[in-house]
Amino acid sequence: MAEKILVTGGAGYIGSHCVLELLEAGYVPVVIDNFHNAIRGSDALPESLRRVEQIVHRPVLFQELDITDGAALQELFRKHQFSAVLHLAGLKAVGESVQKPLEYYRVNLTGTIRLLETMQAHGVKNIVFSSSATVYGDPKYLPLDENHPVGGCTNPYGKSKFFIEEMIRDLCKAERDWNAVLLRYFNPIGAHESGMIGEDPQGIPNNLMPYVAQVAVGRREFLSVFGNDYKTDDGTGVRDYIHVVDLAKGHVAALKKLKENCGCKIYNLGTGTGYSVLQMVQAMEKASGREIKYKVTARREGDVASCYADPALAERELGWKAAFGLDKMCEDLWRWQLQNPTGFSKN
Ligand code: UFG
Repeated sequence: MAEKILVTGGAGYIGSHCVLELLEAGYVPVVIDNFHNAIRGSDALPESLRRVEQIVHRPVLFQELDITDGAALQELFRKHQFSAVLHLAGLKAVGESVQKPLEYYRVNLTGTIRLLETMQAHGVKNIVFSSSATVYGDPKYLPLDENHPVGGCTNPYGKSKFFIEEMIRDLCKAERDWNAVLLRYFNPIGAHESGMIGEDPQGIPNNLMPYVAQVAVGRREFLSVFGNDYKTDDGTGVRDYIHVVDLAKGHVAALKKLKENCGCKIYNLGTGTGYSVLQMVQAMEKASGREIKYKVTARREGDVASCYADPALAERELGWKAAFGLDKMCEDLWRWQLQNPTGFSKN
């Protein structure tokens, strides 16, 4: 029988791509999401998941649920027999987390504790957690491997990722029947090649590529490049951008790893190649055939000069490697942006 996988935050950008890959791989995903970052579609489904259904021609099981609601989680686990959980739900805006630290710790930490307690109570002890390269803080060396010191990040969002990693590690140490894979994402961009699902930031995008895509499509006038005096080739920040479909496939590989009773494992999900802001602008100009206007402004607080992964461990132990390059990431992002100039909402 097909395995049921709980996907928390499964209506979001990364979540919806994971749900799609799970379905393609023969799993039965059960999605919970509280619509904090997702648009409602018809049939009580988030629009992102309604689109996933259209792509794979299969229904998606969905329930509106907030991970901080312990009673609702209990109910859910009574209803379904899960073999594992992909835990992606959480607040994720770095700047906002500095303004609202308690809110970030409440949702990300208490939400995760409730989830882990519920899993434990129901004997579901396999989890894949969506962590972030932000746990490395300012890199002491590059590329970043999984042994690089962690905990150096300065904002509550990043710290919440680090604290959750620590909680899960301690749990796996204390109870040997727990298995966890902590995935440290680098910078996911792009969209499914159908152009039907993609990133749909609400309000002004915080991240580079959604902003660049909105400039290309004419929704915003110009990009602000946050500093060109970093110690990088062209002075702008360098990041390891990874195609969101590659990232989603990394989750399927992680689920397989749990089957080996792996204990607690940590993997970078990146490509190993860094690109600067200006290289990204150029790549997007090429993919879209449009000019992308930009102005250089001050550095953004908390940004590091360069951040890119050593992805070798994931290749060795998960048999996973990013397959898509920069051109494909930008082409797919552009297709999504062009077909959905206002994202999932209709106006
Ligand atoms: N940038 C701009 N202008 C913008 C937005 C970004 O110049 O309008 C620059 C940034 O300064 C940085 C690069 O583009 O050099 C990438 O910025 P993003 O905001 O897209 O990504 P970050 O690397 O800052 O943040 C990402 C995730 C976070 C995560 C962090 C560290 O969004 O969740 O990586 O892993 F915490």
